[in-house]
Amino acid sequence: MSLAVGGAGVYEPATGTPPAGDRILLSVTDLRMYFPVTEGLIFERHIGDVHAVDDVSFELPRGQTLGLVGESGCGKSTTGRTILRLYRPTAGRIVFDGVDITKLGGEALRQTRRRMQMIFQDPYASLNPRMTVGGIVGEPLSVHKIGTPAERRERVAELLDVVGLNPNFLNRYPHEFSGGQRQRIGVARAIAVNPELIIADEPISALDVSIQAQIINLMERLQDEFSLTYLFIAHDLSVVRHVSNRIAVMYLGRIVELASSGDLYAHPLHPYSVALLSAVPIPDPVIEARRRRIILKGDVPSPVNPPSGCRFHTRCWLRDRLGNPERCTTEDPALRTLAAGHEVACHFAEEVDASIEQRQAIGVPVPMAAGGPALGADVALSGAVPSASAPIVPPEVPQY
Ligand SMILES: Nc1ncnc2c1ncn2[C@@H]1O[C@H](COP(=O)(O)OP(=O)(O)OP(=O)(O)O)[C@@H](O)[C@H]1O
Ligand code: SF4
Ligand SMILES: [Mg+2]
Repeated sequence: MSLAVGGAGVYEPATGTPPAGDRILLSVTDLRMYFPVTEGLIFERHIGDVHAVDDVSFELPRGQTLGLVGESGCGKSTTGRTILRLYRPTAGRIVFDGVDITKLGGEALRQTRRRMQMIFQDPYASLNPRMTVGGIVGEPLSVHKIGTPAERRERVAELLDVVGLNPNFLNRYPHEFSGGQRQRIGVARAIAVNPELIIADEPISALDVSIQAQIINLMERLQDEFSLTYLFIAHDLSVVRHVSNRIAVMYLGRIVELASSGDLYAHPLHPYSVALLSAVPIPDPVIEARRRRIILKGDVPSPVNPPSGCRFHTRCWLRDRLGNPERCTTEDPALRTLAAGHEVACHFAEEVDASIEQRQAIGVPVPMAAGGPALGADVALSGAVPSASAPIVPPEVPQY
């Protein structure tokens, strides 16, 4: 596919349909959540802020799943918790089903919360060990004063059945269940009050690989059955691929790339997304043996003092490649649309398309040009993507 730098897009998106306006359940605009950093025991002084979420915007259509992906500490959970209004946002706007809930309080907030629930990462820590399964799953019903005790008991048994657990387990305690069964209890609790939006915060990362697929299948089945809308949080791109309609990649409080799932995996355009994708195994031993991960240099910078300009500049392989352009350190890149429904926050995202790093990340064989250039050589950055049937260069990729 040819490049059209500066034009309508860098490629023709395969599945880049932007969300339809009238079906939007959740709309988040310039959401910001800062946590104050203070000093002193008696006289607290405000000395700075943790920029946990910084100007995050996205839309989530009803019945769809948005994957939210990024390294530890980039602000995924804080985004989810702020949307649920467990925090009061520092700035920005959250609109749920057409109603601005940014500053909602009291009974109105309580009623809205009933329509949004959370599934937590750790099914061991998130279930009260002193409560029976019946008590745990029935708690949201009691909190929202739904039904009589007998009706609630009946509803809990029904919910256990829906998530694939024996309804007779009602009086058992969490420690009597395996990790996968506990997460099923967490899912039953989340759907107890018939919510419309579920924020699933790394719902499978604490589970054995063999169990993960079961929980994903359960969540997908429930989504179809109850028309649920998911914000699905994960720390790597391997998990969200098949469950998400669209994916937002987060780095240090910001969304750096937002695209349909198909487009993100076929055409990652932010250097950070490419690095994340390079770590996702490809189920083809020949291609896999010739791929190299992009190891990002250094640690994630502190969200108290995010780097100037582009927040990713301290670790960016593309910036190195381009000879450290000044713009990366002086100008904060805004999300811009490079193809229909595909937004990227990088001044030089066009350079990523068809680069060796991108092709390695998506598993397209890297061809050998005349003279056999090493992978990562500039020659691969220009020109169109060569044929996939061309010979493959042995792995020899730079470590960033
Ligand atoms: N209540 C809080 N008070 C102060 N700082 C906080 C609070 N909650 C989160 N943070 C900070 O905000 C940043 C984002 O945290 P968050 O938990 O949202 O990240 P995350 O992407 O969910 O990470 P992980 O993958 O480890 O769960 C971190 O630097 C974290 O230390
Ligand atoms: S703007 Fe510069 S530093 Fe930021 S991702 Fe793009 S190339 Fe890298
Ligand atoms: Mg988290």
